[in-house]
Amino acid sequence: MKSLFIAGNWKCNKTMVEARDWLAAFKHQGNLPVNAILVLCVPYTLLNVLKAELPVALGAQNVSPFPDGAYTGEVSAKMIKELADWVIIGHSERRKYFGETDEVLKEKVMRAKEVGLKIIYCVSDEKTVIPHDVDIVAYEPVWAIGTGKTDTPENANHVIEMIKKQWRVTTIIYGGSVTAENVASFMREPSIDGVLPGGASLNPETFFQLIIHASS
Ligand code: PGA
Repeated sequence: MKSLFIAGNWKCNKTMVEARDWLAAFKHQGNLPVNAILVLCVPYTLLNVLKAELPVALGAQNVSPFPDGAYTGEVSAKMIKELADWVIIGHSERRKYFGETDEVLKEKVMRAKEVGLKIIYCVSDEKTVIPHDVDIVAYEPVWAIGTGKTDTPENANHVIEMIKKQWRVTTIIYGGSVTAENVASFMREPSIDGVLPGGASLNPETFFQLIIHASS
């Protein structure tokens, strides 16, 4: 059976109270599919809130390019590893709003790997540089993120095939306005191994429906 990887990305959303409410509602949704690897990537402030009870794996959305030390405001890979198994690196919003370059992202990948964090590495096309050793690549065309406009499943499949060939990556997921309604059309494509929903992960019912539709 084809592998199925779904990573929700809450971005900069939810207080602790809201995260606890989400968790309570999500746990009531029913059984999760066994053939899927499920991850929820949340703000640093929520990792400890969700860690004990979340029925899916936990991820951070960023990591410091530096080790522990005098780097005010940063959160190191070692600190994240205490709370989460995964980290998103190279999301287009980090590249756009925080000026993260391929060089900085390579450092982040190295720090994450040193402590055994698994990496979801985001790229906007087949030309984006992908460092060695990332676990999952997410193809996310910038214009499709948060806009309600998706790439076509056929084109997403085509770009993912090119990335797989060029960068020798085995697992690649699609992100950009994925919903419970459109997820199946992406999962039907042979080279798409999963999805990275942002907005659709914020509501527990919607996220659960998305998971069910992706895996059926
Ligand atoms: P979106 O976000 O599903 O809200 O478009 C996806 C992402 O940015 O990872």
